[in-house]
Amino acid sequence: MFPACYAEPLAAGRPEDLSEGRFPLLTGGMMTRISITVDGVRYDDDVQPRTLLVHHLREQLGKVGTVVGCDTSNCGSCTVLMAGESVKSCTVLAVQADGLEITTVEGLAGASGDLHPVQQAFHDRHALQCGFCTPGMIMAAVDLLAENPDPTDAEIREGLEGNLCRCTGYQNIIRAVHDAAATIRATGATPEPASVADGPMPGTPDAEPAAESEPTPVPAEAVPRPVP
Ligand code: FES
Ligand code: FES
Repeated sequence: MFPACYAEPLAAGRPEDLSEGRFPLLTGGMMTRISITVDGVRYDDDVQPRTLLVHHLREQLGKVGTVVGCDTSNCGSCTVLMAGESVKSCTVLAVQADGLEITTVEGLAGASGDLHPVQQAFHDRHALQCGFCTPGMIMAAVDLLAENPDPTDAEIREGLEGNLCRCTGYQNIIRAVHDAAATIRATGATPEPASVADGPMPGTPDAEPAAESEPTPVPAEAVPRPVP
């Protein structure tokens, strides 16, 4: 049962008011066409100017490996790479990503399915308990190691300070980042991300048209959830 403060606007027909465009930003009256490449696949979609990147990824593209952990831009669970830099995707508008490449945790594994060294190290070091923070923690660690291949404990703590974990006490996370750093230094390379699918790209004229409220079809090679 709704408290009175919620029941009143519903009884007053608030949904109909919205659908008639009194609040165009809430109803989709103003849409912007964007083209972003996510995990190697290009998507063309119409989005509202207010749509956050994290919601676009999850709700329109089906990239649910990227998690919403807070409403305050504090937790870092939603971290993705945008043009190679880690960003909290709940602090970025989808329109700001237009024309850019986005990498989510779902695109880290190699085309052959091999885990990224950071993913493997999180698995090996058991650097998670509930796992909710893990996608963002991994993406932040990937960015950290791209900038600093041999970080100290302090540098790892500083590099991951925007990502909160309520479960692990961080020790295993730090050990995992050290392990991943050593692996990357030893091998000299990280796996190539999943490649663009053959055939028409979603959202292009040759592709099957997607219903407005349906997620854009997700290519098979982008589906595996590599989070340990
Ligand atoms: S969901 Fe983005 S910082 Fe918490
Ligand atoms: S493992 Fe649960 S929040 Fe980090």
